[in-house]
Amino acid sequence: MEHIYPIFDKMLSREDKEKMLGQHGIMVWFTGLSGSGKSTIAIALERELHKRGVLCRILDGDNIRTGINKNLGFSKADRVENIRRIAEVAKLFVDTGIVTIAAFISPSNDIREMAADIIGRDDFLEVYVSTPIEECERRDVKGLYAKARRGEIKDFTGISAPFEVPTHPALVLDTSVLSLKESVDRLLELVMSRIHLTK
Ligand code: ADX
Repeated sequence: MEHIYPIFDKMLSREDKEKMLGQHGIMVWFTGLSGSGKSTIAIALERELHKRGVLCRILDGDNIRTGINKNLGFSKADRVENIRRIAEVAKLFVDTGIVTIAAFISPSNDIREMAADIIGRDDFLEVYVSTPIEECERRDVKGLYAKARRGEIKDFTGISAPFEVPTHPALVLDTSVLSLKESVDRLLELVMSRIHLTK
């Protein structure tokens, strides 16, 4: 089996790429309710890391659910497939030495564990954005909570579909208590300690 694709023997390794980039690839996996602040924190984190010379890639609904996953909805099976594909794509980035940042609800422990298994647990940092549902619903940035309450959207996470609180996240950030800067500072400390930056 090992030599079915002999070209793999000639491909540069992850280590070659990490050496060139001067960083170690890791996965920062945000989980939390819609409107909890995952994407906002992800974007701010990427900007701060970029300033420090760290190459990052954000994966979120804007570039995944409108593209590779546009055929998927919000049934349990579709959410599993959504996260499975995202994890496989994320693994390609992590294996290229890139700090990869995913912002998806990823509502259950089994879904998040599947992602960690695909990507590799050593490189997987689970960050729970724990903003309470009352605050997410108050913000209702996209007007979806109101629609879900009116029954216009079914299987809406936190209203008519479950969200399981992560059991052992590397970090918990409640954006109803922490400022954006405080959240990003906590993340920077964690991420910088894991990426062995050599520049
Ligand atoms: S996940 O559950 O499969 O991880 P994902 O993060 O990709 O979800 O998409 C969530 C986003 O889709 C929400 O922020 C919201 O904008 C939108 N959305 C539309 N319908 C639903 C729904 N039924 N449940 C949750 N989010 C929904």
